[in-house]
Amino acid sequence: MPEEKLEEFMLAPEFNAGFRSTFAQLLNWRRDVRHFRADPVDPALIERLLRNAMLAPSVGFSQPWRWVLVETAEVRSAIIANHNMANEEASQIYQDDRYARYRSLKLAGLKEAPVHLAVFADCGVATGHGLGRQTMTDTPLWSVVMAIYALWLSATAEGLGVGWVSILDPAAIKKTLGAPEEWTFVAYLCIGWPEAYTDKPLLETSGWESRQTFDDMVTRR
Ligand SMILES: Cc1cc2nc3c(=O)[nH]c(=O)nc-3n(C[C@H](O)[C@H](O)[C@H](O)COP(=O)(O)O)c2cc1C
Repeated sequence: MPEEKLEEFMLAPEFNAGFRSTFAQLLNWRRDVRHFRADPVDPALIERLLRNAMLAPSVGFSQPWRWVLVETAEVRSAIIANHNMANEEASQIYQDDRYARYRSLKLAGLKEAPVHLAVFADCGVATGHGLGRQTMTDTPLWSVVMAIYALWLSATAEGLGVGWVSILDPAAIKKTLGAPEEWTFVAYLCIGWPEAYTDKPLLETSGWESRQTFDDMVTRR
């Protein structure tokens, strides 16, 4: 190994048992947050989250994530109207008790969240020279999702909440935000200080769905 490489190796941080235990707590306490306090978030903090997110792995090192900070009241209103319409339509697949329960859920904190962040994947990106995405062409999308999770965990570590809103019409979102044709809409994130912290998903405490067991999800062949 060349000397300078060896030095880099020796400078690598040690992730000890204490860190691993804290990291497990971070994973356990990361929540999808829909209830936000009105307090603003320092833009420097949002920049830190974005810089952490951009350290995520990406197919061919293509870094296809594109972030749009949605700041104006008019654009936010258009997003809220989009969500209201999509949510109305989504509710129609349920009947009776399940319908009533769906309608009682709070599925977005769009009105309260001080920060709105739309996330896109540039699926035609030249960066990475096409490596790794010839046979599995959705890999740029998955790369963006990796970055979103990095942002989500970083936010949790700062005490910030993130809520992912997918009950939206993606074509209308692209139009509202003036996104280029080659971008695919991946996520709309609400970010802010949570009203409360919990280690249980809201959809679990509200009785909508329960956590699956390890054996439900892991098989061996
Ligand atoms: C791709 C994706 C889309 C989601 N869309 C919504 C949404 O539109 N509204 C919502 O309330 N939660 C949404 N969520 C959050 C999930 O409901 C949440 O992750 C799940 O209930 C587990 O809760 P937890 O994230 O607090 O562990 C989404 C999560 C993901 C990963």
